[in-house]
Amino acid sequence: MDIITLGNELLRQKAERIKDINADMASIAKDLIETLHQGKGIGLAGPQVGLMKRIFVIHVEGDVPRVFINPSILETSQETIKYEEGCLSIPNVWADVIRSRNVRVQAWNEKGRPFSLEVEGIMARVIQHEYDHLEGILFIDRLSEPKRNKILAKIEKKQRA
Ligand code: NI
Repeated sequence: MDIITLGNELLRQKAERIKDINADMASIAKDLIETLHQGKGIGLAGPQVGLMKRIFVIHVEGDVPRVFINPSILETSQETIKYEEGCLSIPNVWADVIRSRNVRVQAWNEKGRPFSLEVEGIMARVIQHEYDHLEGILFIDRLSEPKRNKILAKIEKKQRA
């Protein structure tokens, strides 16, 4: 799968709920994980490959790859934490983003089985980042305006060069 990057309008659209978790979905999940590994990322959402469906995959060091279909974030901690993020759709850009420290999430896996997780640390971070992709939100949207403008100017300069 090809990863689309900042500027592509699809990254700004809301993804649709998946009505039927079938064998096609399992094969799509497998392709997403493969694409994630190729990109050396830790999370990848459907819209990032132009698939406007509510699915994302994550693979955090020390864990197995995980598939989230139709996820809901049930709870986010009031306590927040600042951590540096990047995104396969915004190559070579990293910035500190403030997010909830802990989240409780419910979703279905590629076999159609429901599960819920309560996580913190990098896992909570990546789940919030990927969930945002399903809503058409990018991590740079969560920065202060001056910071975001600085990053956008830098990207534009690089694209012109
Ligand atoms: Ni991303």
